[in-house]
Amino acid sequence: MIIAIDGPAAAGKSTIARRLAAELGLAFLDTGAMYRAVAWAALDRDVPPSDAAGCARLARDLDLDFDAAGRILIDGKPGEPGIRSAEVDACVSQVSAHPEVRRAIVPKQREVAQRRGVVAEGRDIGTVVFPSADFKFFLVASAEERARRRAAQIGRPQEQAAIEAALRRRDELDSTRADSPLVRADDAELVETDGATAEQVVDRLLCRVRGGVL
Ligand code: DC
Repeated sequence: MIIAIDGPAAAGKSTIARRLAAELGLAFLDTGAMYRAVAWAALDRDVPPSDAAGCARLARDLDLDFDAAGRILIDGKPGEPGIRSAEVDACVSQVSAHPEVRRAIVPKQREVAQRRGVVAEGRDIGTVVFPSADFKFFLVASAEERARRRAAQIGRPQEQAAIEAALRRRDELDSTRADSPLVRADDAELVETDGATAEQVVDRLLCRVRGGVL
């Protein structure tokens, strides 16, 4: 079974997808972590984020895999927490917008899913990576709520305004790129998460997947 969860930055996709995968006995596939790994390696090796060919080479050559808990391994080493840095946040949208990078990464995502069923989360899962997914959800929350959650998560509530500005910028870049932009698939169910706990959202999705009525 393949479940696709898309949506803007910090909409809670990872938390929800991880819990849903655990409930259903599926693997959790964090596709954003793969683009973050490429951006991290570009910074590490002085490849400019604007260099499409250089970034694509990294995307092709890096060995990207996941440990049993769904955390990314880059050439066999843990990618966390390096891939979550502010420097990676600032350039990952540019790196992931290169069509050559996406051409290298998407087959790797499909390969992981071939091994076992997945709950995959990202921006283009329901539209491009797994257009025939069994279930598709598009998670949204206001930019203010997403920034508030993210600031609380990293323990820096005083940075909420700066975090919101960075999220908005990333959403703008991710939604307006030519290749595989962030957009809701026609057949994806819109899930508003403002004011909802992660548990409530997971219950709603589980209910849908198990054939219950919302
Ligand atoms: O989900 P995230 O914030 O970790 O994703 C990081 C970036 O990777 C995001 O800003 C855009 C890109 N991305 C993408 O282009 N396609 C995906 N399926 C997942 C992420």
